[in-house]
Amino acid sequence: MVKVIVNDKIMDRSEAAIDIEDRGYQFGDGVYEVIRVYDGVLFTGDEHLERFYSSAEKIKINVPFQKEELFDLMNQLIQENKVKDGSVYMQLTRGASPRNHVFPGKDTTPVLTAYTKEVARPVESLENGVAAMVADDIRWLRCDIKSLNLLPNLLAKQAATEQGCYEAILHRDGLVTEGSSSNAYIVVDGKIKTHPATNLILNGITRQVLIRLCEQNNIPFFEEAFTLEDLRNADEIFVTSTTSEVMPVVKLDGKEIGNGKPGELTRKLQVLFVEEFESVKKAHSM
Ligand SMILES: Cc1ncc(COP(=O)(O)O)c(C=O)c1O
Repeated sequence: MVKVIVNDKIMDRSEAAIDIEDRGYQFGDGVYEVIRVYDGVLFTGDEHLERFYSSAEKIKINVPFQKEELFDLMNQLIQENKVKDGSVYMQLTRGASPRNHVFPGKDTTPVLTAYTKEVARPVESLENGVAAMVADDIRWLRCDIKSLNLLPNLLAKQAATEQGCYEAILHRDGLVTEGSSSNAYIVVDGKIKTHPATNLILNGITRQVLIRLCEQNNIPFFEEAFTLEDLRNADEIFVTSTTSEVMPVVKLDGKEIGNGKPGELTRKLQVLFVEEFESVKKAHSM
């Protein structure tokens, strides 16, 4: 039987129950993380947990666990479910209390839930690239918080799917922010650009890994906003996320980018990224 976490307990999924007045369910009043598991090992677990605490703090939820406890719980869950290549989803809500917009009192404790799943690397898409479309960024002004409120992201992703696209790349008044569930980048003349980590985007963990890899390998990287025109005329486009890794975008709004194949620099970043998680796996097995 597959196991899940509810608060500090690991239990059979069939035993897990959440109150219908949980504020996550009623208001989306909570935060979450998705952490990649490669060969049974959490990849960038520290960074994800750090962002989890930071998101919770920004919406004034106290995480009722120490970071080490959470780390241990997630690792136990991975082991119990024998996850090989997959992910851990974890969320924390403000807890269950009679529906009221005002925060509940201190006697209401936050509710942690987590589960795992097997997720194969999207090798075919990583190899050939994917199509994307452009959409209005209609989200709020605190996109730096990984909150449960994802409705605008869902609408954009659904529109993309209906257009046969993998991702919707969002813009505010012509300035590209990010993807509906990814960070977005362009390559122009050998230089990579992505929106700076402000309140208008989620500072992706994959984005942070990529910036470090670029620094270490002397690849020019600029945290600078770019326009829709820049996007349409880019030599290369790619998006990154925990499950998409470094995903080449080879078609935008039906038009080919470059020669319609993943670009050279995107390929190089893919290689560096794979080396990175392979080295984490290796370090863990020693
Ligand atoms: C809106 C948004 N931006 C960026 C990302 C990428 O973040 P990460 O690399 O931490 O998965 C995600 C991931 O789900 C996302 O939802």
